[in-house]
Amino acid sequence: MSKVSIRHLDLAGKRVLIRLDLNTPLDDGRVLDDTRVRAAAPTVKFALEQGASVIVCSHLGRPAGERNPAFDLTPVAVRLARALRMNVSMAPDCIGDVTTQMARDLQPGQVMVLQNLRFHEEEEENDFDFASQLADLADVYVNDAFGAAHRAHASTHAVARLMPSAAGLLIDREIAALEPIRRGEAGKLAFISGGAKVSDKLGLLERLAEISEVIAIGGAMANTFLLARGLPTGDSLLEQDMVEAANEISAIAQAEQCRLMIPSDCVIAHGADEPPRAKPLVFGEEDMPDDWQILDVGPATVEAFTEAVKECDTIVWNGPLGLFEREAFSGGTRAMAEALAKLEETNTVICGGETAAAVAQFRLSSKMSHVSTGGGAALEYLQGLDLPGIAVLPDAEPEDPNEDEEDD
Ligand code: 3PG
Repeated sequence: MSKVSIRHLDLAGKRVLIRLDLNTPLDDGRVLDDTRVRAAAPTVKFALEQGASVIVCSHLGRPAGERNPAFDLTPVAVRLARALRMNVSMAPDCIGDVTTQMARDLQPGQVMVLQNLRFHEEEEENDFDFASQLADLADVYVNDAFGAAHRAHASTHAVARLMPSAAGLLIDREIAALEPIRRGEAGKLAFISGGAKVSDKLGLLERLAEISEVIAIGGAMANTFLLARGLPTGDSLLEQDMVEAANEISAIAQAEQCRLMIPSDCVIAHGADEPPRAKPLVFGEEDMPDDWQILDVGPATVEAFTEAVKECDTIVWNGPLGLFEREAFSGGTRAMAEALAKLEETNTVICGGETAAAVAQFRLSSKMSHVSTGGGAALEYLQGLDLPGIAVLPDAEPEDPNEDEEDD
């Protein structure tokens, strides 16, 4: 069932509270990646064009209910102003007398940004009174924080029960891209899974093993699969207690005729700060030194992954294939991104902050069909779970199939 969209609302002269996910990486107050800010801008612009005034709210980091300057949203608000090409005002808090007065004084066409919601512990507690104070600031609520939609917090959940509510344009776009995959209706599906932990993705891997043609596993999580198959992993990062789970996922894949691929070669080093060995280690042909680590997949692995996934209609990629932040161990992730970028006829979907950051670092984001702004939210959605921030929004009326005919 689709949800009421911001497009269905009459916003002229209204004050709109828009929940965005402006949780962006910061270094000493400098925004390192503004992908989420830029992705959020169209919904704010849309509301302004309809004659609304906009009150933006978001969390930033995990300040655990305490006011903490390291998580001040002001630098992100400055970035939002740049994306919108207009001035925005910054409220000193997300609730309280000053903020309430600022919201009352806001004129159509103006934007104000509330201070970090998580400076109040009531936000994560999904507290009704706190949500009521947010609701009192505006006439209408729009949730466009796809990246936080898996959280039942006051600003993503309770508030939607207190006022007319709708989904924003980004949530619409994310659902349009992810829903066919989640339903198993995106044609032949391949899943490239990297990152550190099998334990983070157990449910997702189990679900995708049922509906995918191929699952290609890299990153440190592949080490757990290598160990499960009795291959040498030296001193590599892995999850000993997930070996059984890795075997179970392999068994599900086999039963569902999904080809589960693990690395055939890899880049090793004595440690992440040491230079890699000149030639990638090939499993089965040579041994892994006991005190060395696997830090990237090798070229033969990327080639094999590419050959397998390119036969599919849709490729979902979550998790880098190596320690891509270090140049020496970025080759596998870069080569995979370049290979996907060339598949112009394929629906390529990038999920998760690190994978999106890697693809952006290689300047290949625009070559992908969809780069999701959701990390945990996208993975939970693909796994088939309901996201509370979306589930709570009202369902849209089914469209009248005769509407066009009557108009004619
Ligand atoms: C994210 O970055 O995944 C979202 O902003 C959610 O953040 P959280 O995991 O701190 O709730």
